[in-house]
Amino acid sequence: MKKLKLDLSKVLEFVSEEEILKMEDEVKRAEKFLIEKNGEGNDFLGWIELPTNYDKEEFERIKLAAEKIKKNSEVLVVIGIGGSYLGARATIDFLSHTFYNKVTKNHPEIYFAGNSISGTYLAHLIEAIGDRDFSVNVISKSGTTTEPAIAFRIFKEILEKKYGVEGARERIFATTDASKGALKKLATEQNYETFTIPDDVGGRFSVLTPVGLLPIAAAGIDIDALMAGARQAQNDYTAPFAENDCYKYAATRNLLLRSGKCIELLINYEPKLHYVAEWWKQLHGESEGKDGKGLFPASVDLSTDLHSMGQYIQDGQRTLFETLIDIDEKETDIVIPFDKEDLDGLNYIAGKGMNFVNEKAMLGTQLAHVDGGVPNIRIIMPKADAFSLGYLFYFFEKSCGISGYLLGVNPFNQPGVEAYKKNMFALLGKSGYEKEAELLNKRLK
Ligand code: PA5
Repeated sequence: MKKLKLDLSKVLEFVSEEEILKMEDEVKRAEKFLIEKNGEGNDFLGWIELPTNYDKEEFERIKLAAEKIKKNSEVLVVIGIGGSYLGARATIDFLSHTFYNKVTKNHPEIYFAGNSISGTYLAHLIEAIGDRDFSVNVISKSGTTTEPAIAFRIFKEILEKKYGVEGARERIFATTDASKGALKKLATEQNYETFTIPDDVGGRFSVLTPVGLLPIAAAGIDIDALMAGARQAQNDYTAPFAENDCYKYAATRNLLLRSGKCIELLINYEPKLHYVAEWWKQLHGESEGKDGKGLFPASVDLSTDLHSMGQYIQDGQRTLFETLIDIDEKETDIVIPFDKEDLDGLNYIAGKGMNFVNEKAMLGTQLAHVDGGVPNIRIIMPKADAFSLGYLFYFFEKSCGISGYLLGVNPFNQPGVEAYKKNMFALLGKSGYEKEAELLNKRLK
C-alpha cells in the first residue's frame, strides 16, 4: 500500500537537513504534551485517538441516517460554519465528481448553508431546492452560533410548512454537544435524531466525528475507508522523529517561520483540493494565530492563480513558503488532440495527456518559485480516495498540534473569535450588551 510522502528537497537551500534534525528535542517536548495530555488545551485532545476510539454504534447509526436521507430526499442541506462545515465540504468536493450536484443520481444533491449571513445566498438556495423533497443536517457544537442558528430557523419553518411538524421531524438531523447548548435543547424537545460531538474534540478537529461523517456518508462516500486511513496515520505518526513525516513537516514549517517566512501558502494543481485548503486554513489559523504569533495560512489554486497571484509569489515580499499537495495517481485524463492547421501552436503537446502538461507546469513552477526565494514543501498523496484523505486529515491535525506547542501557544482554543461576536451582538441589540452598544454606536457615527 502506497502512503503519503513528504519531500523536503526544495526546502534545503533555505533550512538545512541538520537544522531540521536538530528540532528533534523540541518536537519531542511538544509530542509529550500531546501524549501525556498535560499541555494547554489538554481537554481537547480527543482527536488523537479518535480513529480507533469512536462510538461504533453511532457510526452505524450515521450510515442508517444517510440511507434514510438518500431514500426520502433529493437534496440535503448541511447547516454549519467553521469546523462544523469545512471538513464535510472538503471531503465531498475532493472525493466526488467535480459536478456532483449536477450528475448525482443515487445520492441527494448537497448544499451548505449557515456559513454566512447572506440573505441572497439563502434565498437563492431556497429557490434552487424548489419544491423538491429535502432534509436538513444542522451542525453546531456550541449550539449557539448565530450563522447556523439563523439558517436553521428558516429551514425548520420551511420544512414544517411543507411536511407538518411530524414530517419535518423525520427530516431534521442535529449534530451537537452531548448536553449543552440551544441546539441540544431544541433537538431534545423536538425529538430530532441527534448525533454527538465528543466533548474533547474541538470544531476544527471534528471532521471524523458525526460533524463530517453524516454529510460525507450521505454523499455516498466510504466513511469506513476514511476512518481506516486516519487510523493508519494515527499508527504511523507515533514513529520517532527521524522516520516521522508528520513531525518533520511541523518542524520544518516552524523553522521557516523563525527564518522570517511567516506566510504558508497551501498550493494544489487539482481544483478538487480547493476546500481541503479551506479546511487546512481554519485548522492552522485558529490553532496557531494567537498571542501575536503564528504562520499566516493562505492558499492558492494553481495553475489558475499563477495568472493572478503568481507575480506576487515569484517576486513580492520574500515572506512566503509553499506547501504543495500533489496527488500521485491521477483520477482520469484527457488527451490533447492533433490539429493539422495548428493555428494555436499546440501541436508540440498533441497526443499528451493534460495531466502530463499539468505536471510539467507544477515542476517548472516549483523550481521558478524556489529560484525566487520561496521554499517548497511537497506532500504527495498516493491517490484521491477516502483512505488517503483520512490519512491526510490526521497528518495535518497531528502536525498542527505539534506546531502549536512548538510555537508556545495553546493550539486548541480560539479566544480571538469572541471579539467580533461581542460587537455584532451589541449592534444587533441583544440584551446584556447595552453598554458595548452605546460605545460602538458612538464610534460608528
Ligand atoms: O474550531 C472551532 O471551534 C470553530 O471554528 C467552530 O467550529 C465554529 O465556530 C462553529 O462552532 P459551532 O460548531 O459551535 O457552531
